[in-house]
Amino acid sequence: MAYKVKFVEPGKLYRMIKGELDAAYFEVMNNGDLVDRGHLKQFEENLAAYVGTKYAVGLNSGYDALHMSLRAAGIRPGDEVIVPAHTFVATCSAVVNVGATPVLVDVGKDFNIDFGKVEELLEVRSQKSEIRIKAIIPVHLSGYMADMPRIMKIAEKYNLVVIEDACQSLGSSIYGKGAGSWGLTGCWSFYPFKILGGYGDGGAITTNDPDVALFARRMRYNGEDRDTGEYHGHGFTCLLDNLQAAFLDVKLRYLPEWIKRRKAIAERYRKALSDLPDLLLPHYDREGFDHVYQNYTVRSRQGDEFSEYLKANGVEVLTQFRKPYYRHEALKLEDRGFPETEALSREVCSLPMNVEIDDEEIEYVISVVRKFYRK
Ligand SMILES: Cc1ncc(COP(=O)(O)O)c(C=O)c1O
Repeated sequence: MAYKVKFVEPGKLYRMIKGELDAAYFEVMNNGDLVDRGHLKQFEENLAAYVGTKYAVGLNSGYDALHMSLRAAGIRPGDEVIVPAHTFVATCSAVVNVGATPVLVDVGKDFNIDFGKVEELLEVRSQKSEIRIKAIIPVHLSGYMADMPRIMKIAEKYNLVVIEDACQSLGSSIYGKGAGSWGLTGCWSFYPFKILGGYGDGGAITTNDPDVALFARRMRYNGEDRDTGEYHGHGFTCLLDNLQAAFLDVKLRYLPEWIKRRKAIAERYRKALSDLPDLLLPHYDREGFDHVYQNYTVRSRQGDEFSEYLKANGVEVLTQFRKPYYRHEALKLEDRGFPETEALSREVCSLPMNVEIDDEEIEYVISVVRKFYRK
């Protein structure tokens, strides 16, 4: 159906900064700079500076960033890795694809991993002296970070590697320390609809560890050291394209301004909708925690009835995920019972949240939500 307000409008965003994107395109094309060239290097430097790490390594996708991080950390068959029960499936698939076993843990009211439950799990395992858990992947969902001060303490106590799945939270921070700068690596996705989206798949890791950066640089290029031609292991083909890097570098310059706009939209939603008792809004007001609103995900007690009403009235919304990933039979994952994930899966609904949306469209979304609750 033709939506009156779309979830995102990449064409509109392109037209907003067309001059700079077109200039980047023509420069790359005219020079024939396609693979591992200056734009990639430049973007990596700018990304690392923005996140607050020494290094950034451009990869093919967020999945590759997770996969490469696990390999760099030496995670292998027999190891276990803690992942949230509510996340995009790639967080878990990366663990399975290095031969390790994911251990799922429920999330809290902010959609992020419940650290109380992580501690409980580790406590029980250590009493039975069966700690095979080697790493934890906290996911910073929707633009709001998991409680990293707490997870770093737990990780230290149990000697766990921390890999941050920051794919949804570029620009977010806790007390000014950026997402993706806490763990061994931060993993980034530049999937087109991310807060920093390319024009195809893309990703990166950020890290302060020179060995991890070097490992990823080699492994993304089939294990090859580009200066000497020496292969340092059986690697992969997962290098971020120079052309994508050129586009991403243009967009990265706008990110601080775009995040302000996202926060202003979130504030508008909050003012207009916070009196509705059946609607839970994603505002946590926790001191020092900065929300950048990659997504504006509300919880509606009316679940599908609410999201279907919005769609039928011309508002495109996302309901990720009605069916939790561990319930997909082919993935063969253990469902140890995740009540919060089960509850929120029935209720989640992400409202349009992007920088290309105009004020009239936001007012329209608000009017449809209010109309639903007046029924
Ligand atoms: C939380 C999370 N993890 C991992 C990924 C995987 O990123 P990609 O799609 O670039 O592989 C995504 C994005 O799709 C994501 O949102």
